[in-house]
Amino acid sequence: MTRSIYPMNQNWLYGGEATPESTEIGFDDSSFERVTIPHANTLLPWHSFDDRDYQFISVYRRHFTPLADLRGRRVFADFGGVMTAATVFLNGERLGEHRGGYTPFTIELTGHLRWDAENVLAVEVDSTERPDIPPFGGQIDYLTFGGIYREVSLRAVPQTFIENVFAQPVNVLDARRWVDVRCFLAGLEPIEAPLTLAVALRDEERVLARQTTALPARTDLTDVVMRLQDLGEVDLWDLDTPRLYTVVAHLMDGEKITDEYTVRIGFRDARFTPDGFTLNGRRVKLRGLNRHQTYPYVGQAMPARVQRRDAEILKREIKCNIVRTSHYPQSPHFLDACDELGLLAFEEIPGWQHIGGEDWKQVACCNVEEMIRRDWNHPSIVLWGVRINESRDDHAFYARTNEIARGLDPTRQIGGVRNFFDSELLEDVYTMNDFNPNYIRPPHHPLYLNTEFVGHMFPTKHIDNVERVQEHVHRHARVHDMLAGRDDFAGGIGWCAFDYNTHADFGSGDRICYHGVSDIFRIPKPVAGFYRSQCDPAEDVVLEPAFHWSIGDKSEGGGPGTGLICSNCEQLKLYIGGELRAEIHPDREQYPNLAHPPFTTDQLTGLWGQVWSDLRIDGYIGGQKVVTKRMSARGVDREFYLEPDDAALVGDGIDATRVVFRVTDEFDAARPFATGAVTLTIEGPGEIIGENPFALTGGVGAVWVRATQESGTIRLEAKHPVLGSRIAEIRVTEAQPEGI
Ligand code: GAL
Repeated sequence: MTRSIYPMNQNWLYGGEATPESTEIGFDDSSFERVTIPHANTLLPWHSFDDRDYQFISVYRRHFTPLADLRGRRVFADFGGVMTAATVFLNGERLGEHRGGYTPFTIELTGHLRWDAENVLAVEVDSTERPDIPPFGGQIDYLTFGGIYREVSLRAVPQTFIENVFAQPVNVLDARRWVDVRCFLAGLEPIEAPLTLAVALRDEERVLARQTTALPARTDLTDVVMRLQDLGEVDLWDLDTPRLYTVVAHLMDGEKITDEYTVRIGFRDARFTPDGFTLNGRRVKLRGLNRHQTYPYVGQAMPARVQRRDAEILKREIKCNIVRTSHYPQSPHFLDACDELGLLAFEEIPGWQHIGGEDWKQVACCNVEEMIRRDWNHPSIVLWGVRINESRDDHAFYARTNEIARGLDPTRQIGGVRNFFDSELLEDVYTMNDFNPNYIRPPHHPLYLNTEFVGHMFPTKHIDNVERVQEHVHRHARVHDMLAGRDDFAGGIGWCAFDYNTHADFGSGDRICYHGVSDIFRIPKPVAGFYRSQCDPAEDVVLEPAFHWSIGDKSEGGGPGTGLICSNCEQLKLYIGGELRAEIHPDREQYPNLAHPPFTTDQLTGLWGQVWSDLRIDGYIGGQKVVTKRMSARGVDREFYLEPDDAALVGDGIDATRVVFRVTDEFDAARPFATGAVTLTIEGPGEIIGENPFALTGGVGAVWVRATQESGTIRLEAKHPVLGSRIAEIRVTEAQPEGI
């Protein structure tokens, strides 16, 4: 029998605030709420709440009877992430504590389990902002929320087992490439039986290479490196072809497999050089955004599908090639999706400006190790961030974080984000937040990546007037243009992908920083059109006006006037009221370096007192009309859309999908001032995560729908007070039972 992993996300009992007795075995938890993990310790409005509402110590309990097959094996409870500190009890006995909400931890249950009886796993979850744990101790511009917000599982392994595997492709661009597979063993006892380790590189079921090693009989062996070579042809992992392989390690006792560990890898050569960033020997200008993994209503407690969706939005809708996981290690599901989609990632440790005392630094050093050991096989990750975002220099501390990272992973370069230019560089890449709006300062170090720009310098909402919305687009475009103009800039990662909840000391006064290219519901603002438009038209033809169509929203009226249109077409023809107004080309004067400069025009005008007419824009490539966009002059909300991201969910009580509301004109153009309370009715095996009724803002909004633990069809009806009802149906399929 090899290892067994039992997901343990259903049937938790949640009791709200913990009491001194609530972790005891005999505690009466009959009044507790039955919940599934990921779980938020409290549900919140999407804005204007008090973050103290989630800052408390709560208790979770899970009753279970160990299966007979766990006997004789070592049993661990694996926690993906508990915000921010967790103390774990089994049957009332305190087994351990983990400090830090963004990294996984394991508690060994072996020797404490009661056989043939019910056991109670209780977790006391401290979601206060404890100054002894990063990122706390100062002020931070984001919220951390609370709860057991990542998956839990029970793992049973033999006495000696594989603890981790780091498979490192080496010499990737050479036909004689190989993979060094470092297997970490735990619990090794004097070997009596002839234990062997066998590793194999696989492409699905096909084995490309294998290697076996007999383990010497010694007690202090913790890791073994084995080389897989003569691989034959392999496909490289690249942005358009993110090819993945697996490495499987078997621990064997004679012919019997006693443990198995599988990781996914990709063959890619990624490096920051004085001439920019290269992937597989080809220079790639990095164009990306920072992402917080927080969502409306539940903070970070969103399941795999929803976490993965953010990577899809970044890669497929906003056309980024890199994301920074600001400012902490993010959901493994998100990183898996980055691997599968070909989206590069810069991952960093938790922290924001503040450096705490020795104890705090110790947690930060653990965070470096936990992050790297969790994520070192992801081909998407090309840089580790080992400084506290925007902190001061601290030589001794950062010498330690660098040393830990280099010791664990010799294959990747290291960065660490700072916000001043004369900071001591112990890392490889000078990763720098440069918010200077009009120019990027020259790098002081040959390897340079701009890791934040625009952000708080220009918060922008759907409902802002047309001048501000267009300037928002220009600001992102200007920085990318400057970065594109110099080979020694690796590129830039703008602030940020999505609006996010924050403390009252930041943001617009409603607990939100409106810094996103998309709003908090992941609905794009006009600036997202700029990012989209930088893709090759063979991938997607993009034509996104950066304005809504009105005569009087800008100062002095007369239409948007100087209009900005993001497109990867070669030429645009603008028609107002059916009459050709202008033929325009990409604005290479303002944007000499971009692959697809935005178009600008001063012809989008109307006269105050005259009839305001519809706008039509035709886009041309190679002389052919390839796209048309229309915007109505009627000034009426005409369409109401209800759009689920997914047609089907799994009925495990966990799976969820976003459902977007959108009001448009008759041509599908956004109506940013549309309001109205949308009333929702749900039937079937689903529940709404969000506000009901939902008051539209900016003509848009969203809730999430979570499947219950049944199958069938969810029927969601959304009623707009003027535009009527829309219905969405989501199928829910039967889930695999958890088994414990
Ligand atoms: C940076 C910081 C980010 C965010 C941003 C707002 O200084 O690193 O977390 O606060 O400013 O623009």
